[in-house]
Amino acid sequence: MTLDHIGIAIDQPALIALFESLLGTAPYKTEAVEREGVQTIFFGDGGTPGVAPKLELLEATRDGSPIARHLDRRGPGLHHLAFEVDDIERHIERVRALGIRPLADAPKPGADGKRIVFLHPKDTAGVLVELVESVRQPPRWVEVDGPAGPLAVQVSGPADGPPLLVLHGALGSTELETDRLIQRWESRFRVFGLDLRGHGRSVGTTARGATWEDNAQDAITALGQLAGAPSALFGFSMGAGVALAVAARRPDLVSRLAVHGVNVQWTDAEVQGMVGPMRDIEADHPFWARRLAEIHGPRWRDLVADVTAFTEALPDHHILDADLARISAPTLVSHGDSDRFFDVRHAVHTYRQIADARLYVIPGLDHPIQGLDVASFAQTVGDFLSDP
Ligand code: CO
Repeated sequence: MTLDHIGIAIDQPALIALFESLLGTAPYKTEAVEREGVQTIFFGDGGTPGVAPKLELLEATRDGSPIARHLDRRGPGLHHLAFEVDDIERHIERVRALGIRPLADAPKPGADGKRIVFLHPKDTAGVLVELVESVRQPPRWVEVDGPAGPLAVQVSGPADGPPLLVLHGALGSTELETDRLIQRWESRFRVFGLDLRGHGRSVGTTARGATWEDNAQDAITALGQLAGAPSALFGFSMGAGVALAVAARRPDLVSRLAVHGVNVQWTDAEVQGMVGPMRDIEADHPFWARRLAEIHGPRWRDLVADVTAFTEALPDHHILDADLARISAPTLVSHGDSDRFFDVRHAVHTYRQIADARLYVIPGLDHPIQGLDVASFAQTVGDFLSDP
């Protein structure tokens, strides 16, 4: 749990001006929660979660509301501490098991796009505690005209945030693989989650015969149509190779780069390890086959054939050391040391070719992105990508 905001009860509008002068900034928003009879006035870092706690001034909008009764009894002053949680129902059960009484059985809609519950102050040292859970705005999908057909891009985060392009792995999609990270990054970036050609929602595009360069050209096209400024880039696995190809070809478009689980210099043995399980997916891996049909729709068999062909050609299509040496963006190369497909030596080698690179080896981590500790990984990579 992290401190999200501090609530202060006020009994006259002059106190808003007082806090404006004190903090040297205007409120970033005001919002009435009519059902609770309260007007909220927020100060802080644009409401960016996880950056720094905010101040929430609370003004009664009618007599007899909870905040009006509080002001009658105690006058203006410190009202509550609010902690951000990621699963409020679970935390309600958890605090109840600790003998702390929630003031409601279920979370209610609160200000600032949150679901909230208050805890009984008699059980928490006389301090009123609020638990808040952010409710995500559903991401928007847009289409860009790629060189081989339309490409689907999930767009989220503030319109004026620094751009971040996020690329998933082979046979994956934004929704399946990278959205969990995007949810942690969209508070501070304008995030573009590109579904690679033939994948996910980019169904109008075939990936047959595509190379790193073709996928890189798709990403460059998406950046050109959406970003409007040099962008941070994150890629996982195949998406990481694409990100490296973009940064090598167009250093001017890439401000910072993070790649995870990457290998762009494949051996024949690595190809066999990867395409073996893809040969007869329906017979050998029926659960995976169903999943692929869900993610990519009826064209999933074509996509598997496309990705198999792409993979089999990889030993002849290295991204060369000379290409990697052209990458000028500060780069974070991360890798699990238990990656079943690519030895961590690939990551070390990639890191050594890039002028301004750091290496981040995660102990015990296998290749699938589902194994990541999302909170700590997103924090580390997000901090790296936003470092000025
Ligand atoms: Co509050």
